[in-house]
Amino acid sequence: MNIKNVVVIGSGTMGSGIAAQLCNANIPVILLDLKTEISERAKKGIFESSPPLLIDKNKINYIIAGNIKENFDLVKKADWIVEAVVEKIDIKHELYEKILKTRKKDSIISSNTSTIPLKILSAKMSDEDKKDFCITHFFNPVRYMGLLEIVSETINDIKKINFLKNFCEDSLGKGVIICKDTPGFLGNRVGVYAMQVAMTEAIKMKLSIEEADAVFGRPMGIPKTGVFGLYDLIGIDLMADVLKSFLKELPKSDVFHEVAQEIPLMKNLIKTGYTGRKGKGGFYRMNKKEGKKVLEAINLSSKNYSPSKKIDLSIDEKVDLKKLVSRNDKYGKYAWLVISKIILYASSLIPSVTKDYNNIDEAMRLGFNWSKGPFEMLEELGVKFFVEKDSKLKTNKFIKELYDKKAETFYGKRQIYTNLETLGKVKQLAKVNKDNKSAITYEHKDYKIVEFNTKANTLDYYSMDALKKASDKNVIIINEGMQFSAGVNLNYVMDFAKEKNWKAIEKFIHHFQMTCKQLKYSNNVVVSAPSGLALGGGFEVLVQSDYVVAHTNIVTGLVETLVGLIPAGGGTTNMLWRWMQTQEAKKDPNFAPQKVFNIIGYGKTASSPMEAVPFKFLLEKDKSIMNRNKLLSVSQDLISEKKNGYKPPKQPTFKLSGGQARDKMFQTLENLFKEKKILEHGMEVGKKLAFVLSGGNTTIDKELSEDDMYALELEAFVQLIQMKKTQARIQHTLSTGRPLVN
Ligand code: NAI
Repeated sequence: MNIKNVVVIGSGTMGSGIAAQLCNANIPVILLDLKTEISERAKKGIFESSPPLLIDKNKINYIIAGNIKENFDLVKKADWIVEAVVEKIDIKHELYEKILKTRKKDSIISSNTSTIPLKILSAKMSDEDKKDFCITHFFNPVRYMGLLEIVSETINDIKKINFLKNFCEDSLGKGVIICKDTPGFLGNRVGVYAMQVAMTEAIKMKLSIEEADAVFGRPMGIPKTGVFGLYDLIGIDLMADVLKSFLKELPKSDVFHEVAQEIPLMKNLIKTGYTGRKGKGGFYRMNKKEGKKVLEAINLSSKNYSPSKKIDLSIDEKVDLKKLVSRNDKYGKYAWLVISKIILYASSLIPSVTKDYNNIDEAMRLGFNWSKGPFEMLEELGVKFFVEKDSKLKTNKFIKELYDKKAETFYGKRQIYTNLETLGKVKQLAKVNKDNKSAITYEHKDYKIVEFNTKANTLDYYSMDALKKASDKNVIIINEGMQFSAGVNLNYVMDFAKEKNWKAIEKFIHHFQMTCKQLKYSNNVVVSAPSGLALGGGFEVLVQSDYVVAHTNIVTGLVETLVGLIPAGGGTTNMLWRWMQTQEAKKDPNFAPQKVFNIIGYGKTASSPMEAVPFKFLLEKDKSIMNRNKLLSVSQDLISEKKNGYKPPKQPTFKLSGGQARDKMFQTLENLFKEKKILEHGMEVGKKLAFVLSGGNTTIDKELSEDDMYALELEAFVQLIQMKKTQARIQHTLSTGRPLVN
């Protein structure tokens, strides 16, 4: 068996996402809809999507758009036919009949349904056809969500299902969990229940939506969209349909019914076009007031919008569930009500829905980006604590058994859905050192793993300490969080700036530089394996590693200028050095400084390894990997291959033309200023960057060492951070997430 040609039918949100992911894997796709105009429009949508569904826009040519009337014959050639049309059973049945008549023998047919049971979808098929039919439930957006649930029945050809699983794991990069044919499968059964509990309890407790999202978010290891924000993201209308289907499919005895009734407010929002981010807004909306965009939140009782309030829970960045649920205030009470119900519900599904509780936890990670699933939460809280905290808690068989056995550490293996040697599995086997505020270090075989673990994995003095200490062995810098690192922790830097403690900032940046230098020149192999954001300081760690094993979903680049700074952890110097190795730079000493001036000056980013190479954010020697679960093993293999005879790189020297190179950059800045593309501070930041990239007060006959360049970076950084307008940019970005132009 092989999958070389795929037909996707239905070119809406999901069909487009699946087709794009097949393109990303270099597999030709025929995308069919009712009319060719619809699938052509979908193709255009894929090309223009943001965040992009394609890792390389050129791959769009792998898609051929067509319609189900004139082009249905193309189904004959397909090895796999994916149905992603509207969630209407009659339409699906009619389509299957046509597919089954046309398809070639042995092909696989799957539906992307999120709510219709497999046995209903296949009800009209012969037993022979049923063998080749299953559900492949992708999550939206397909490129970015790790989970794929494959739902099969005993009648299925198990070899085929396993083949499809391996294909989707290897080629499409998904974490594939095989599920039974039960409503909502695993991810949505627990994930949607969790959302409904969070919403219902918030309404009962009269919390504001901002309060609910502040608790049912980062403090629980859940993305900051929380529950109401997530509702808006998914679409309130879509959620309403999903709930209806759960109510239809689940027996009345299932406690899902208690939390799945559509609330009148939701009905009203949908009716008035407030379907979420795709509509006029939802629980949150962006409103324009006096020419300014203001984020507003709905009041659950009055139904009026008012400017969204930031909720300060005054808690540590680290998830500490026990502390959270033990709080003596409404937030602690809310957290306990929600967490306890989720744990009880998830554990009630064992063994009828799945015997493997780990699969539920991993489905929550892959499909909802939780950092821990309900069973890991239970282990963290402790079974005894959980059962004894609340005398009214109605436990179930699963929990009772653990309690009676006094099984405090019951968990066992992680990521059992895959045979790959994943980070999650290796972390359980490795020697752990948690003795650092911002990173955990693991020791395994002949290497160390450094896993940053701050919010968005932003970097501070402690993160650098962890890297420095690890560099006495081969190192893999990798993590399971959503982001590799969003850059230097700006809150940390601003705290010093507020005290005008410039010395502390200088000390930190110098430590950053020296740590990265140590990684680069140590006698050991250093591999960075990023996924998600690797920006600013995060990129500086990559650029000073020996190799980068990058997940295809990285977003990388140097964005410091947007907050009024320049890259000073070696980023400016190393980018300059990379561009100095080009043929053009050999001919023209000002070529590389000018090129890097543009890249850093505009804060350019790449949203895949393919896009990163032309900027030289990544090099040909680096690797691009579709399946995030493979990052660790590919990094391990690189270490094994390179460690014998490994020699650190030679320290570079720089010949730069100083004022001569600077003149042209200054001219560019003047022009941008005249055209009002930059304002005063943009000019100031640009000038500092130009000063560093041109080598400062040097001439072309002088040779600068790498340390000279680091010193220039550091000096510029410390000067910039002292400026009020840089501080204003940072404050603005910290509070709004957007850059300030000043
Ligand atoms: P959508 O409404 O965005 O797109 C459906 C597409 O199917 C439309 O382009 C429509 O013109 C086309 N279509 C309708 N009848 C057709 C027919 N007979 N032949 C060919 N095309 C036809 O829907 P969406 O959201 O992409 O959902 C598709 C499937 O994926 C549904 O089964 C849904 O339950 C499921 N799903 C949706 C998720 C989501 O987040 N939107 C997530 C996971 C699954």
